[in-house]
Amino acid sequence: MDRYILNTIDLSKTYRSNELVVHAVSKVSLQVKPGEFIALVGPSGSGKTTMLAMLATLLESTSGHIYIDGEPFDDMNQKQRAKFRREKIGFTFQDNNLVPYLTAIENVELMLRLNKIYSTSEAKRAKDLLLRLGLDEQINSLPSQMSKGQQQRVAIARSLIHDPRVVLADEPTASLDTQRAKQVVQIFSDLIHEEKRAGIMVTHDLRMCKYVDKVIQMVDGSINRIIDEPADIDVLAGTSEFDKLSTPALL
Ligand SMILES: Nc1ncnc2c1ncn2[C@@H]1O[C@H](COP(=O)(O)OP(=O)(O)OP(=O)(O)O)[C@@H](O)[C@H]1O
Ligand SMILES: [Mg+2]
Repeated sequence: MDRYILNTIDLSKTYRSNELVVHAVSKVSLQVKPGEFIALVGPSGSGKTTMLAMLATLLESTSGHIYIDGEPFDDMNQKQRAKFRREKIGFTFQDNNLVPYLTAIENVELMLRLNKIYSTSEAKRAKDLLLRLGLDEQINSLPSQMSKGQQQRVAIARSLIHDPRVVLADEPTASLDTQRAKQVVQIFSDLIHEEKRAGIMVTHDLRMCKYVDKVIQMVDGSINRIIDEPADIDVLAGTSEFDKLSTPALL
């Protein structure tokens, strides 16, 4: 039994379009233990979204291996992959892709229905999760009737409701004000720790890093730096060290 929920070995992705070859992710080996919440930071174009999309099994790698819950994803056929993805992985991307003609609660319940685990008690869990994310008044609202930040919180609820082993989020707080962002990341962190999931959040906001267990910085498609004790990271805010971690200009 693999002691990691997520384990990648030399994972790489090269995009080729016409003459252009981009090594977006180069030989990244990354391990995430049960109950571990990781922030993936780094300059724009450093390969964070590409990495997340491969971990979400939505994007085929060029080379390397991914093991999820000890199982080699590379060995699965299309049907096994689809089932595995639906059951084991929860993700939110920046454009949250809520179904426009379903309400907040219906969007969350959709994941239960797709996984064929819908029941009255599960539906209550969906409602409780939306309440926990501060969406009391939006439960029956359509995405078009909600702010970007509210939609993002619905997407977070949707990514967690089917009890996935792996939770991946690409800039989940990008549309939220600082106070709300902190609350959301704190809840995210609790839901990952409580259920011993593996969580990875891409963020440009280092203030969010104090809620994670580890910060991994990517530069030019590779892991450049790992910070094991990020609780004090906001002490760095406003310093050149902070800028080096988060912004492209100074690298
Ligand atoms: N579909 C694609 N085709 C070709 N190149 C791509 C594609 N997607 C991403 N890239 C390139 O791969 C590199 C990594 O992109 P990626 O989106 O993973 O970066 P990122 O770290 O998420 O950046 P950001 O912080 O701006 O979201 C960039 O150079 C980007 O231009
Ligand atoms: Mg990105």
